[in-house]
Amino acid sequence: MTLHRLYTWIAAATVALAACASTDTKMDQFINDLMGRMTLQEKIGQLNLPVTGDIITGSSVSGDVVGQIERGQVGGLFNMKGTRQIRQLQEVAVERSRLGIPLLFGMDVIHGYETVFPIPLAMSMSWDMDAIARSARIAATEATADGICWTFSPMVDLCREPRWGRMSEGAGEDPYLVSQVGRAMIEGYQGPDLADRTTMMACVKHFALYGGAEAGRDYNTVDMSHVRMFNEYFPPYKAGVDAGAGSFMAAFNTVDYIPATGNRWLLTDVLRQRWGFDGFVVSDYTGISEMINHGMGDLQAVSALALNAGTDMDMVASGYVSTLERSLAEGKVTVEAIDQACRRVVEAKYKLGLFDDPYRYLDPKRAGKEIYTDAHRAEARRLATETFVLLKNDDHVLPLKRQGRIALVGPLANTRANMPGTWSVAATSERYSTLLEAMQRATAGRAEVLYAKGCNVCYDAELEKNATMFGREMRDERDAEVMRTEAVRLAQQCDVVVAAMGEPSEMSGEASSRSQLGILDAQRDLLEALLKTGKPIVLLNFAGRATVMTWEAEHLSTILNVWFGGSEAADAICDVIFGDVAPSGKLSVTMPRNEGQIPIYYNHLNTGRPNPKWFTKYTSNYLDVPNDPLFPFGYGLSYTTFSYSPLTLSSTTMGRDGSVEATVTVTNTGSTAGTEVVQLYLRDLVGSIARPVQELKDFARITLQPGESRVVTFTITADKLKFYNADLVYDCEPGDFEVMVGPDSRNVQRLTFTLQ
Ligand code: BGC
Repeated sequence: MTLHRLYTWIAAATVALAACASTDTKMDQFINDLMGRMTLQEKIGQLNLPVTGDIITGSSVSGDVVGQIERGQVGGLFNMKGTRQIRQLQEVAVERSRLGIPLLFGMDVIHGYETVFPIPLAMSMSWDMDAIARSARIAATEATADGICWTFSPMVDLCREPRWGRMSEGAGEDPYLVSQVGRAMIEGYQGPDLADRTTMMACVKHFALYGGAEAGRDYNTVDMSHVRMFNEYFPPYKAGVDAGAGSFMAAFNTVDYIPATGNRWLLTDVLRQRWGFDGFVVSDYTGISEMINHGMGDLQAVSALALNAGTDMDMVASGYVSTLERSLAEGKVTVEAIDQACRRVVEAKYKLGLFDDPYRYLDPKRAGKEIYTDAHRAEARRLATETFVLLKNDDHVLPLKRQGRIALVGPLANTRANMPGTWSVAATSERYSTLLEAMQRATAGRAEVLYAKGCNVCYDAELEKNATMFGREMRDERDAEVMRTEAVRLAQQCDVVVAAMGEPSEMSGEASSRSQLGILDAQRDLLEALLKTGKPIVLLNFAGRATVMTWEAEHLSTILNVWFGGSEAADAICDVIFGDVAPSGKLSVTMPRNEGQIPIYYNHLNTGRPNPKWFTKYTSNYLDVPNDPLFPFGYGLSYTTFSYSPLTLSSTTMGRDGSVEATVTVTNTGSTAGTEVVQLYLRDLVGSIARPVQELKDFARITLQPGESRVVTFTITADKLKFYNADLVYDCEPGDFEVMVGPDSRNVQRLTFTLQ
């Protein structure tokens, strides 16, 4: 955050705080009065969150939902688009229900709205927190202009499991980086004032540990030690509480053998009592009724379990509206528990200003002026350029010259619907460019871009169908050999080949787990055939996760990982491949050599038998693959190069209240401007519990002109040294610490200091 922005926010927050005491009393009085007038059924109704997206047919709405709203049995609705439809239903709530309590309107605004930003995983590769906060601010402006006041974002599930398709929705494998990204998004969505017409309530999800699903299979069991939870998986959720997120979503998975949705230790002891969260908790989609499959009882039992655990709102399962009255009569839940959940939901509506004006997010004039604007698109394009990670550029094929003939091939080269990436429900893909269109625009009059698809996503039509759902189909019915030959002939006539390959957008995301992460068969065969032409090849790898690129790294000189860059992805890719912008993305996930290395992450513990050199018998290693990854966490190249001066420390000792400064001078040693992310890692060399071999603690993103140098100083205080010990006490322990600074997690300089 720039200093100026920081000050603006602090000033706004101070005003908000000053107003807080009186607002709270006013809010309490208002809600006490309202709840005093509510029947039990109306209170339970506030806890009900049905889905409406698929029951809207034209201008009419489902009679049942309307009826439920009229009877006061609905607290909110979600995934509906457009002020007209939303207004109709808000009017039913406000004008036709007994107490006129307005509804919450939620949506999965995950990485932008109609202006789609890169998928969250990609955004995290930018390490640019200001830009990420701005993306969320823009998402909130657009979504609120379209009637939405609550987003189911950010997802801060730490993930070391690239088989899991939802790695795409998070910010990678590092607790510190994921926390920073989550905080930036919450700031952007909520702003300093939730009641502002352009801000919306955030929902931190999925609490908790969803990214730890066994074997990377979605919704699967999670089981881990509390030390690991508190030190590694929990910090991003806690950062969400500290950033003031208004709501949390419970995860589908089990935590300590109890589904998160019904886990009182998690939702009450940790979230509320330990961390002080005071917003409301919503279940995930049918998360309550799914506890029946988990073996926790029938719908009545699991609904009572969820309420008693601290789940305030029931998404889609209808368990609360259909069973809580009975459970109350049978003594399985208390009226206090129902009141408390109702109060939390109604408080959220109050904070959003819905009681002042239930139509405050429904100004029909805003959408036309504030959605998908040129300014928003420019911001999305700029951020997208920062997310691409240059993995290899051995022969300096990139940046491409705008001259001669360029062959564009591959299944991702000429598709519109696959550009924005998974979870872009508000996208209007017909307006977005394909890569082919953008490349033709970017080279117009100077170079010729020729296109041949060359292959389908894969040979298996069924697999391709499942990975290109939601109107994103792209299969070509021609014979594979015919398609490949066409592309090879095209390549032969050109100076360079750009291969747009990888995953289609729905190959990652929810319920899109993969067991094999290498490039798919048809695409590999095409690459092999293209290699034989001897033409230089630039691989643009589209991916929603860390994929396995061992073969590509061995055979190709040039690889740019472009993830899914959002609505402006195609232009952003051109900005980078033609050298208008130098790539600056750095990996927020470790890229494995093969699937057998998974889970692989940089901040692991040491073993008693660390492997000094592959292969060594009786050390911790594999017979058939080294331990280290193909590309490490934090890695990414630019078109220029950076040199680091020797690392210095301001002192080799530090008192508990003191600090140590770690300093390097970074110089741009190449001939083009570039941006570098300088990274600080620490290792606690001796502890009461085993400590990771390195942990990211800070970073600085700096832009340097050719020849320019910048002194980068990181201040290390006790806060950066603290961890949860075996008793889950958060503190630092005296002893030696190793300081590591470098351009990625592998390539670091090391020095040591002692905490006294
Ligand atoms: C997902 C959530 C999402 C919800 C509502 C669920 O399937 O797990 O992340 O917010 O649906 O669409």
